Amino acid sequence: MPDKHLTDLTIRRPDDWHLHLRDGAMLQAVLPETTRHFGRAIIMPNLVPPVVTASDASGYRDRILAAMPPGASFTPLMTLYLTEDTDPDDVERAHRDGIATAVKLYPAGATTNSASGVRDFDKVRPVLDRMAAIGMPLCVHGEVTDPAVDIFDREAVFIDKVLKPIRKKNPDLRIIMEHVTTEDAVDYVRDTPKNLAATITTHHLIINRNHILAGGIRPHYYCLPVAKREKHRIALVQAAVSGDTRFFLGTDSAPHTDARKLQECGCAGVFSAPNTISCLAEVFDVAGKLGKLEAFTSLNGPAFYGLPPNTNTIRLVKGDPVSYPSHIQTKDGPVTVFDPGFALHWRVES
Ligand code: NCD
Ligand code: ZN
Repeated sequence: MPDKHLTDLTIRRPDDWHLHLRDGAMLQAVLPETTRHFGRAIIMPNLVPPVVTASDASGYRDRILAAMPPGASFTPLMTLYLTEDTDPDDVERAHRDGIATAVKLYPAGATTNSASGVRDFDKVRPVLDRMAAIGMPLCVHGEVTDPAVDIFDREAVFIDKVLKPIRKKNPDLRIIMEHVTTEDAVDYVRDTPKNLAATITTHHLIINRNHILAGGIRPHYYCLPVAKREKHRIALVQAAVSGDTRFFLGTDSAPHTDARKLQECGCAGVFSAPNTISCLAEVFDVAGKLGKLEAFTSLNGPAFYGLPPNTNTIRLVKGDPVSYPSHIQTKDGPVTVFDPGFALHWRVES
């Protein structure tokens, strides 16, 4: 039951442990939507071409810092896109020099802009060994890409076919299984005592696959990994509100213009940065777990990454439904904001 008495909540400033900021006009338009509420974010490297080397990441970070809205205090934590040609020395240098926080593994072809990802996992073994040695975490898009595997099963199969073997060969590597969407992933993380954590998105706590497909196709709910059955959504909510330190927020806010979403082959991605904190407060409130919101948004992530939590705070106040735009405008065209399908009552005050 929601806590009827609690209408005012101050928590440490949240961080977003999985975010797509893009580049150019899109970066300029979406960055303020994140800096308004978040202190730091893990920035996804799936640009075209991808952010592969330390030098690429340093250049991209400069472009993000140049696009910062006035007065914002926000730290982009950069990632390197793992390819079969990635040089372990370059990765180590990026980590040592504070240019990159993590490396991102996309199985080739798994999602938007992932063509340069990994096909043969043995080819990246030297990079993974080096990362384990220097304590650099690996962010993983956990879906197999075999066309013979049903899209709703790709995460569960990835755990068995790819993640377990990687963890067996490299138990010291710290891994974040990103944007988990299944009870299988939640159970696997819960059953793994060390060096494994998971991020959960805002939208996967709210929608199941019916929201995408029942009563008409809703492209704005299509993202990867695709939302699963209701029982999986419930497992994700239970993990998020549990306070278990291995689960934390990674919004996977992934802006695409409406023109790119609403075409014959629409691309994957949900843009949730503008209203994510209000959405999460609603989910935690309805679950009667507002007391665990701060752990999920602001404490568990930094702890896993070995960083201190933010020292400043945000204040949430409950009241009449919050208004937020249905779209944001960018020079590339409008981008639709995630619609949770219910009213949001928690407003971020500062
Ligand atoms: C992401 C994107 O658009 O870059 N899309 C998505 O559906 N989540 C890629 C990703 O993280 O899979
Ligand atoms: Zn993503």
